[in-house]
Amino acid sequence: MNLIKKIKILYKLLDQIYKSKNLSLKKISLADISSPTNIKIFETVDFKGGLTLEELSVIISISKKYECKNYLEIGSFRGRTAINIAANNKDTDIHTIDLPQSFEEKNLKFKLLDNDTVQAKHEDRNYFFYKYKEYNKNITNHYGDSATFDYNIFNHKFDLIFIDGSHKYENVVIDSENAINNLSKKGIIIWHDYSIQNLDVVKAINHIIKKYKIKIYSIKNTRFAFYQS
Ligand SMILES: C[S@@+](CC[C@H](N)C(=O)[O-])C[C@H]1O[C@@H](n2cnc3c(N)ncnc32)[C@H](O)[C@@H]1O
Repeated sequence: MNLIKKIKILYKLLDQIYKSKNLSLKKISLADISSPTNIKIFETVDFKGGLTLEELSVIISISKKYECKNYLEIGSFRGRTAINIAANNKDTDIHTIDLPQSFEEKNLKFKLLDNDTVQAKHEDRNYFFYKYKEYNKNITNHYGDSATFDYNIFNHKFDLIFIDGSHKYENVVIDSENAINNLSKKGIIIWHDYSIQNLDVVKAINHIIKKYKIKIYSIKNTRFAFYQS
């Protein structure tokens, strides 16, 4: 291996170490916050970057353990997580927010990141809401930019809010603030993509911790950050 290649590898390693230092949330395991639960899972495999099977199991387990009556998902894409929450919690009132099927980027409060554009413009958006319509009866899909969405339309607070929309720093901050303001007593917020690959999400969560002086944890073996009010 020549010297330049070695230096490049060294730089890459240093970069990863530097980035991982930002991932400073205390780690908890699912066993710390839930208990053994029987769950059903539909659509075990997702697109690259989507929830892993373990992540899907964790969020379903949490929804069941805390008997969440009201669930909100910011960024629902094909509806995989929302449908699984519905299938495992038959009386839960479920709301989702995602961009309208055809939207103009210039109308968004913040420009989409390239990675987010792929899903935002994907033709399969909402697919599972149709495929599993037997679980759809308690689901209400809302369409709009979550950064400018009017949360006053909800006449109740949510027991579980899953933030998985735009991964841009400004969006994650606004989504988190809206989540905090719309959370029930003992309500839970889960963020997806707390990872080296999504440093904007990490930065936004660190900002929220400082601003609201709250404790947020990361859940072992997942890219979830977890907060309970
Ligand atoms: C990673 S996907 C969500 C995956 C989904 N939570 C699941 O578990 O299957 C991100 C979604 O966020 C939506 N999104 C991106 N920017 C948004 C914004 N500003 N407002 C609302 N939704 C947004 C995209 O359209 C996309 O469907």
